[in-house]
Amino acid sequence: MAEKSKAEVKENTAAIGSDTMIRADNLVKIYKTKETEVLALQGLDLSVERGELTAIIGNSGSGKSTFLNMIGGLDKPSAGALFVAGSNLFTMSEKQLVRYKRETVGFVWQNNGRNMLPFLSALENVMMPMYLSSLKKKRAKAMELLEMVGMSHKKDSRMNMLSGGEQQRVAIAIALANSPKLLLADEPTGSVDFRTANYIFDVFSELNRNGQTILIVTHDVALSKKVKRVVAIRDGKISSERVLKEAYQDRLKESEIDWRSEDTQDEYAVLDRVGRLQLPQEMIEGLKLGDNKVRVAFQDGKIVISSPEEEEASGGENADKEPVTADSEKDRETDTV
Ligand SMILES: Nc1ncnc2c1ncn2[C@@H]1O[C@H](COP(=O)(O)OP(=O)(O)O)[C@@H](O)[C@H]1O
Ligand SMILES: [Mg+2]
Repeated sequence: MAEKSKAEVKENTAAIGSDTMIRADNLVKIYKTKETEVLALQGLDLSVERGELTAIIGNSGSGKSTFLNMIGGLDKPSAGALFVAGSNLFTMSEKQLVRYKRETVGFVWQNNGRNMLPFLSALENVMMPMYLSSLKKKRAKAMELLEMVGMSHKKDSRMNMLSGGEQQRVAIAIALANSPKLLLADEPTGSVDFRTANYIFDVFSELNRNGQTILIVTHDVALSKKVKRVVAIRDGKISSERVLKEAYQDRLKESEIDWRSEDTQDEYAVLDRVGRLQLPQEMIEGLKLGDNKVRVAFQDGKIVISSPEEEEASGGENADKEPVTADSEKDRETDTV
């Protein structure tokens, strides 16, 4: 049995590479309700390396929580593949899943009450998840975690005596109690003011500098400007990605920067594994299309997308050029065009 799981781990690690923390391949989630089926994830691809701090942004209902819950082992995919820290979430047994949730991932929710007991102290709450572990110095470890989130001075305060922001910092310490390989946070700053949210983000950044891999869902575009890598979900699929500019990488701690007004990141559209691309809505509008067809041409090492009407107006100068994708069936599947 042990041999088998060892072999399984080896196989999974080989499949995703040992530096990969998360790999989602064509992930699909369908929620069935009485009346209908909701396609919450529509073939989502994403890879996250160990040691990365990644933020996920997207409109309400775009599938962010569905994706995070799946990584947290709280929900199962309908199709596709999901590997986290070498484990295949699709084939895990119930027993393996319980262990995975306890040891591999830590979860911080927007509503922090979900993870804590209001009448226990901050310190007791952080020690709580450790009871099942074999860790020797539980109290010392809990103190160290409270120190890391800037809450050691409130270690004896009962949770219901703390402010929302303070509770959220303790919630981070609780999520880290069993030293998870991956820290997940679903809108952790959703119920606090901007200053507190900024502080909480700085806590995540500091944890990441110390090697913690973190995936945060946030609705807060201003705060996401401080993150090295931001992926945007649209309709259950990754649509674009922003990467922090080199010039800002060493400036994350500077308090005089107003992150809300700075242009800190480069933005990229993301190709999925079969070459489909989502174009930003404003660009599609800019093309002034008659219907949903576009001309795609390869010109001077660039792919140029244009409206067929514009093509005709300019004398069809590219009419003799080969389109990029020969398979017209596939072109028609392109998401947003
Ligand atoms: N348990 C569920 N049952 C049915 N539909 C659900 C369930 N959870 C989420 N959904 C639907 O799936 C879609 C994605 O939801 P969610 O992942 O919560 O989005 P987000 O976190 O980005 O706001 C939404 O249309 C939502 O209504
Ligand atoms: Mg959500």
